[in-house]
This record gives sequence, structure tokens and C-alpha cells, in this order.
Amino acid sequence: MKELVLFVDGRRLARGEAAVEADDLGVLQGIGVYETIRVDGGRPVWLEDHLRRFAEGLARVGMDPEQVIGGSDSDLRRSIAAACSAWGAADAGSLRVTRTFGRNGRDGKTLLLVRPRDVLPPEVSVSVAARAKDPADPLEGIKGTSRLRNFLLQKEARAAGHYDCLVPTRDGDLSEGTICNLFVVVTGTVWTPTLDRGCLPGVTRDHVIQVMRRLSIPIRKAAVTLQHLRDAEEVFLTNSSNGALPVRAIAGVRETLPGAQGALVRKIQNRYLLDVERYLKDAAEGSAVDGAGGPAEGVACD
Ligand SMILES: Cc1ncc(COP(=O)(O)O)c(C=O)c1O
Repeated sequence: MKELVLFVDGRRLARGEAAVEADDLGVLQGIGVYETIRVDGGRPVWLEDHLRRFAEGLARVGMDPEQVIGGSDSDLRRSIAAACSAWGAADAGSLRVTRTFGRNGRDGKTLLLVRPRDVLPPEVSVSVAARAKDPADPLEGIKGTSRLRNFLLQKEARAAGHYDCLVPTRDGDLSEGTICNLFVVVTGTVWTPTLDRGCLPGVTRDHVIQVMRRLSIPIRKAAVTLQHLRDAEEVFLTNSSNGALPVRAIAGVRETLPGAQGALVRKIQNRYLLDVERYLKDAAEGSAVDGAGGPAEGVACD
């Protein structure tokens, strides 16, 4: 089994070495902000997009993004490059960047962990969560480390044999999964919930939307309901680790969907992976620009 790569505040640690103090609020109350970043060829994918969302999250939790992230030649960027390069070019990885709150918001720790990406089947099933969320809660937009609700909802879904669950809002529409954004194809148009439906502004969501715009695939950001799922031609999920992940069944709502055979999702997956390849090639040549290939969409609003 491949060794995990761990860095704390720029220093490489051995597995099991202590990293966070016991009175860090990251430990006591789960207060912190994090990013999960795809690592391919020993490099982080869409790094600037992730750091932008990370900075917003830090600011909203009361930590200074400048202190934690710094500028274009910062310690954090150097550590991220070192951690991904230590992981190596041969294996698909996932980089988790976590900043804990510490005792006062200034003395937290920055943890980097590179580990293998989960190996998933080409298509998955999901359930619909029994508990709804408040879409107006501004905390939904932060990638915060306190994820008890999502953890428990996902645990229930996994216990029933599903990859994840779709979380409804109190208004009766659907928000997202516990680790992914949601896309539903109805009569050739791709629907995805607007961010004000309680979604995380997914980095992959943004890039997949850019892909669709370039392919002239009609996309609608609007409320998505169970009726959309019943009428769906295809359903897929997005996140950094898995790109666009086709759904083959939604328990109790749609027992069969085309899953990985869906024509639209296949097209989107292919183009998205080409964008990732191009990004990595540009990064290797020192000219990576996040969002290259289409107009950048702000991640803070919809
Ligand atoms: C709740 C939630 N929504 C959406 C996403 C997808 O975001 P991204 O594409 O930035 O990985 C994640 C990722 O973990 C998530 O936890």
C-alpha cells in the first residue's frame, strides 16, 4: 500500500506523528476549512480555483486568507507542490488541504494530506435523504470541516448500498449530494440547482458548466425537483475526485437510468478530462490558468 504524504505547516511528517494540539478548536469543535483537490501526474488540478474558494471560506470563519494562503509564491503553494511531487506522477491522488482554527483563528495548523483517490465503479446508485436542509443557511456554501450532518446522511446511504444521497431542501426541491453537486438531463437540457438551493460552489460544477457551454449543451441553473429525476434522461454528480459521475439508479424514484451509457454524460466526461489534461500540460509548462477554455464563472454566487 502506497504511503500517504503528510505535511504540517510546510514540514513533512511521518504517519502517526502528532500534528494538531488538543485544544485546537479544529479538534474540539471541528472548526476549520478545507479543500479536496484532484492530483494527477504529481500536480494539483484547478489549484487557483480551489485556493479562491478556500480563501472565501477562511474569511467567513474568521481566519486570515493572506496569513494562510499568501501570494503567488507562498509557502503554502510551495508545500502543495512538494506534497504532490512527493506523491509522484504515477498514481491518481487526492490532496486534502485543511486549516484548523487553532485557539484564536491565527494559530491553527495547515495540514496537507495526499492519498489515493477512491476507485469507483463507472456508475453509481444514490438514495434521497430523509432529512431536508435549510437552503438559506449561508454555512452551506462553506467547505467547513464540521460535517456531521453530511457524514451521517452519507453513512445511511452507504449502509443501504448507495454511493451517496441527494439532499432535499425544506422547500421540497433538491440541493446536492453530501460530497457532490447534482446535474439532471431533461429533454436535452441539463439542470443543476442554483447555489442558493444550499449547494457548495463546486469547482468541478463550474468547469463542467464551462464544458457544456463550449459544447453548446443547453444548461439551466434553477430549482431541481423529484419530478426532474422522474423525467430524467440522464443524471450525474460532480466532484473534484471523480469529475462527472453517472448515476444509474435513484432508490425509490428511478430504478433505471442510462448511467455510464448516457450519451451526454460521456461527452461531458471526455471533454472535462481533456480540460484537465490541458490544464496539467500548461501547469508543467508554467502557464496554467484556471478556467482556461471558457469564461471563468465566479464561485461565490450563481
Ligand atoms: C457538499 C459538497 N457539494 C459539492 C462538492 C463538489 O465540490 P468540488 O467539485 O469542488 O469537489 C463537494 C465536494 O466534496 C461537497 O462536499
